[in-house]
Amino acid sequence: MIDPAKSCILLTGAAGEIGTALRLGLRPQYHHLLLTDRRPVADLASNERFVQADIADRDALAAMMQGVEAVVHMTGVPAEHTLEDLFRINARGVFDVFEVARLAGVKRIVFASSNHAFGCYPLTTPVTPDAPPRPDSFYGVFKVMGETMLRYYHDRHGIASVSLRIGTFRPQPIDQRSLASWLSPRDAVQLVDRSLRHPAPGCLVINAYSGNTRLKVRDPNWEFLGYRPQDDAERYVEALRAQGVDVDGPWEWREHGGAFVHQPEKPTG
Ligand SMILES: NC(=O)c1ccc[n+]([C@@H]2O[C@H](COP(=O)([O-])OP(=O)(O)OC[C@H]3O[C@@H](n4cnc5c(N)ncnc54)[C@H](O)[C@@H]3O)[C@@H](O)[C@H]2O)c1
Repeated sequence: MIDPAKSCILLTGAAGEIGTALRLGLRPQYHHLLLTDRRPVADLASNERFVQADIADRDALAAMMQGVEAVVHMTGVPAEHTLEDLFRINARGVFDVFEVARLAGVKRIVFASSNHAFGCYPLTTPVTPDAPPRPDSFYGVFKVMGETMLRYYHDRHGIASVSLRIGTFRPQPIDQRSLASWLSPRDAVQLVDRSLRHPAPGCLVINAYSGNTRLKVRDPNWEFLGYRPQDDAERYVEALRAQGVDVDGPWEWREHGGAFVHQPEKPTG
């Protein structure tokens, strides 16, 4: 268990959308947040320290990892990037962060996985985290790789972890799909906080969604982790309808991964 009053947490991807929400939500409760990103981070609080670095810089990572009790790994690029970038940042970068953490004796890792780890399941299947992964893209494949590495580190090295299969992180839902897949900023903070504080999460994979009325996944692990979502995308239905968003018609997609399942394959060299 991580003691927020004493522990140093390393947050990667700290300048990003989710990283910023996590900083703001966690820093009032946590003793020390060490932040890293290749982009600058502004408005540091007195209990935050920032190191600007590329995730490929293993020496910088090793220096950062000293004295760190837990890593929250949010660095990543979206699926639109070239396969080369996806491989360098979302695969090799994950490997480097996890491996440097292991070598430094870090005992807990929280990882930004994705709903695209199971995107090829039909929407009629309420996917639980114990179902075999069915990634819908190389982006999803590399998220499954991260989850698999964490399984290995748990079984071989006793490192506890929580892989968060994040749905659609946004300030609010924007379309019919995100009415089901939305993860609100404060629910994201709660998920990471619970993942750090839980006494023994083992090697947990969790569907990281708000408590949306239209959820199309199921998750017994929410109870295990002590996660009680505070938000429900349904609150925004009327506002979306008023904006002309089709919130009532049949779904545009048949699979959990939405458009990802139908993208042309990237050139693989
Ligand atoms: N936003 C979502 O809905 C969503 C859904 C599923 C999974 N995720 C995952 O959550 C994580 C965070 O997503 P986000 O929405 O905050 O993305 P984001 O793009 O806003 O943030 C990612 C951060 O990673 C940093 N980064 C990228 N490449 C880097 C490199 N080579 N070295 C150092 N830093 C680098 C970027 O500068 C950025 O600040 C990602 O791993 C993403 O795949 C996000």
